This record gives sequence, C-alpha cells and structure tokens, in this order.
Amino acid sequence: MDPRKRILVALDTTDVDHAKALALMLSGHVGGIKLGKEFFTAHGPQGVREVTGGLTGGPTGEEQPLFLDLKFHDIPNTVAGALRSAMALKPLILNVHASGGVAMMKAAAAAVAEAGAERPMLIGVTVLTSLGDEDLADIGVPASAADQVVRLAKLAQGCGLDGVVCSPREIELVRDACGADFKTVVPGIRPEWAAAGDQKRIMTPRQAVDAGADYLVIGRAITGSDDPIAAAKRIGEELQS
Ligand code: C5P
Repeated sequence: MDPRKRILVALDTTDVDHAKALALMLSGHVGGIKLGKEFFTAHGPQGVREVTGGLTGGPTGEEQPLFLDLKFHDIPNTVAGALRSAMALKPLILNVHASGGVAMMKAAAAAVAEAGAERPMLIGVTVLTSLGDEDLADIGVPASAADQVVRLAKLAQGCGLDGVVCSPREIELVRDACGADFKTVVPGIRPEWAAAGDQKRIMTPRQAVDAGADYLVIGRAITGSDDPIAAAKRIGEELQS
C-alpha cells in the first residue's frame, strides 16, 4: 500500500466549511478523513457528503475515503440497522464497540457483508484509551486494560470483524494475538516535530507503522498546522523513507 494511504485525518470540528476545506486540500496527500460523533450529530449524513465530496466531487472528481467514527453500541438489531444506514455514505471504515458482545458483532458483520465487494471495513473499539485499569474495575471488569484489549480483539476477530482501534502500545499485542491480516487503526500519533497536546501514550507515524499499524488516525499534527498540506506531505515522506 502507498504509505500515504495509511493516513486518516481526524477532522474534529463542527464547522462544515472548515472540514470541507481541509478535506479538499488534503485530497491526494492522505488516505482519507475521519468524521465522528460531534460532526455527525451536528450535520448528519448531508454534512458528511459535503465534506467527502459526495455532493460536489473532490478536486480529482472523486470522493475522499471516509472513516465514519460513530462507535455503535446497542442491541444487535439496532446496530445492524445503524450500519445499513451508515453504508449509504459508502465509508471505507465503520466501527462498533466490541464490548457490545458476540451477538451484536455477528449481526454487525452480517449487515456489512450485505454490501458485497463494496463493503466497508468493520472495526471494533476495544477499550477506550481514556479508561485505565481502575476505571475498568469500577465497571466490573477485573482485567488489565491491555488484557481486555486482547480479549476483545480476539472476540471481534471471531465474529468476523476486520480489525480493531487500538493505542500505539497495543499494536504488537493485537498483532501477536490476531495475526497480520487483522487490521489495526491507531490514534495517538505524533511526528517528532509536532506538539504532543493532550495525548500521552504516543508514537511517531514511522514507529507505529513499523510496529504493524495499518491505519494512522492523525488530527492536530495536520489540521492544527499552519500548513496542513506540508504537514501531511512530511508525514507521508517519513513513512516512505
Ligand atoms: O489530534 P489528534 O491526532 O490527537 O486526534 C486523534 C483523533 O483520534 C481524535 O479524533 C480523537 O478523538 C481520536 N481518538 C484518540 N484516541 C482514542 C480514540 C480516538 O485520540 N483512543
């Protein structure tokens, strides 16, 4: 894969015009964009289409590949229906919480499979990185976060999901448990030349790919830069070197 295609830019804004401008300028320099609950709740599918170019076509006449980060978590029937609705946006990646359980993940995988060869990748959210071991104990999960991530990754794989979201430090654990074909989508990425901000357990893009990451979710290192195109190109070059 062209290493630039591994970069998914997190457009963490509710400003449609700003998101659209970033998506347009970064088209061709990255693999796609990520829109999440904040944007989607404010602007819905129509807002997403505006940003991906689904209404107007991007600069190359093509839509910007989309990671629609809605992290569904509900009963199986509802999650399957939500995924069917989301697939109208033709995303590259959709996700569900793996802690929704086996029946939910199987229903999710079956719903996504209905789209045939055009189907999106279905990714499981394991343990939110905002949760530590003590937070898990509070909600009745006795395992360490790392053990729980591996447990849920294996469960997700068994249910037919294509991969998981994980932090940089869990890439190798998931790889060892689930093999190289099981995708890892990894936030918490900072080039050496970018500010760490509120991210603590970070890796550089190069380190994350060397550890086996398939997709890198990168937000502020690109979107917060004075020159987002130059920042994206620089990351792309670091990945190619
Ligand atoms: O700006 P930054 O590169 O930190 O953005 C990372 C993106 O990945 C944000 O959209 C953030 O919500 C998301 N994310 C994260 N950590 C997780 C899961 C998602 O930073 N564990």
